[in-house]
Amino acid sequence: MKKFKKNNGFAEDPRSTTASSSVQSLLADESSDSLRILYSTAEAEPLVKIGGLGEVSGALPGALRQLGVDIRLLLPAYRGVIEAIQGEPIGESFQAIPGVEEPVQLFLGKMPNTGQPVYAVACPALYDRDGGPYTDQDGEDWPDNALRFGVLSKVAALFGSTASPADWAADIIHCNDWHTGLAPAYLMHDRRARARSVMSIHNLTFQGNFPSELLGPLGLPKSCFITDGVEFYGRLSFLKAGLYYADYITTVSPGYAREIQTPEFGFGLEGLLAHRRNRLSGILNGIDNTDWNPQHDPYLPARFGPQDLIGKAVNKQLLQERLGLKPNAETIVLGVVSRFTYQKGVDLVLGIAEELLKQPVQLVILGSGDRHYEIEWSRFAWDHPENVSVTIGYDVALAHLIEAGADLFLMPSRFEPCGLNQMYSMYYGAPPVVHRTGGLADSVTDTTPCTLLDGTATGFVFENANTAELLACISRALLAFQDRKTWQKIQYKGMTQSFDWETSANQYFKIYQALAPTKTG
Ligand code: ADP
Ligand code: GLC
Repeated sequence: MKKFKKNNGFAEDPRSTTASSSVQSLLADESSDSLRILYSTAEAEPLVKIGGLGEVSGALPGALRQLGVDIRLLLPAYRGVIEAIQGEPIGESFQAIPGVEEPVQLFLGKMPNTGQPVYAVACPALYDRDGGPYTDQDGEDWPDNALRFGVLSKVAALFGSTASPADWAADIIHCNDWHTGLAPAYLMHDRRARARSVMSIHNLTFQGNFPSELLGPLGLPKSCFITDGVEFYGRLSFLKAGLYYADYITTVSPGYAREIQTPEFGFGLEGLLAHRRNRLSGILNGIDNTDWNPQHDPYLPARFGPQDLIGKAVNKQLLQERLGLKPNAETIVLGVVSRFTYQKGVDLVLGIAEELLKQPVQLVILGSGDRHYEIEWSRFAWDHPENVSVTIGYDVALAHLIEAGADLFLMPSRFEPCGLNQMYSMYYGAPPVVHRTGGLADSVTDTTPCTLLDGTATGFVFENANTAELLACISRALLAFQDRKTWQKIQYKGMTQSFDWETSANQYFKIYQALAPTKTG
């Protein structure tokens, strides 16, 4: 592996211009021996967040920076991003790929909350529009997604080459999900490339598969359209490209790393992943305990902690009142905050909801996604106004209040690469009911006589994702709830265990070091 010289030898690059002084002062601290990582992503909180990927991208780079890594984010300049990061243009504009004539202009700025350096890829024709990062206002995928994320991937790869568009280049390009999956392919097919690459899988079902005709517009050679390349069942696959060409693959829990090597969870990529298993590891996500901390959470009417749960009871009452449910401390509130998709098993909850209501429970659901789930849940709430509240939409404040006010949190995902909500719920004293899969299995300890005795129980786990097992598991939890001491023990353990980002960051750091052995970090 070639080592980049100080400033990577690009300091005199005439395309370089000066970034804002505040970012410059932050960057001045970087040692030339630091590992240089470009963390390329389609989402990063607080700029843009659709799900867990946005949260991870908002938190992990900061934890790595604490370890002395010179890590910078790269993401598209969606509408409003340049202002939010106080971005300054860097270098000349340039055409990134043949299929997009509009030139790309890079901006360097800082994350509004953490000051973390961030490059934004501006190409207004691709990114400056109403709607979401992946879909339009009606939830339909943008028709030009291949080009939108092809440009992002290409720019990421350039940062790992002697043609870096900035006066900084990376030792390692860290790619996340299919949106930046083409970057390792571009690196492989560019003689100027110097960097190694890491491909992180947050969800294997989103693969970015497109018609092969896009090969030319994306600027990839025809020769890479083969099984040992970007081809996947006759289509060009961004994720497969990343998994095939990256120097190392990670995913977001050890359990999911094992599961994706099997046909049940591999979605066609299990063979490749099993083949590359020596270059694949699972690192459990952390949670950001500044954003998610019941002792300081600004979204909560009452704060609480493991030693003092009075605030939790207040939140429960306010949650019931706010949602029009009968306030009652004895009624057990079951919470769900979720994307409404098959993955999350929201239909399994619906399948047992009628049966559940025979017990003294209230169901509080927040989510959005597949239209038919939205309709069915809304109907169910309409039929049971006293015991069921369904909020369709995306509401961060309500998500926090549900975690804080619920007694039990339901997360019966069919598969779950990591999952963050079960960690929040444990932290907020709402033990989760989860399917034994992926990150759920890695983060929740089932309540059994043994785990109660040794004090490790944090939730309730069932083996197979079906309604019968879900119902039996919830019934087990409801029984445990009746025994105050047992319940408090489970709550206490969940609230005091640590899912800090530092532990995860240390594992990424080791991988980076192994890939770029001459760098100290
Ligand atoms: P995924 O990324 O697969 O959706 P995660 O559990 O990793 O699942 O992360 C989901 C994140 O998105 C959590 O922080 C969760 O609270 C949040 N979230 C999901 N749906 C909603 C919603 N309807 N309103 C507010 N926050 C939501
Ligand atoms: C994906 C996964 C989720 C994971 C998140 C962050 O959205 O579905 O399980 O927690 O990415 O890695």
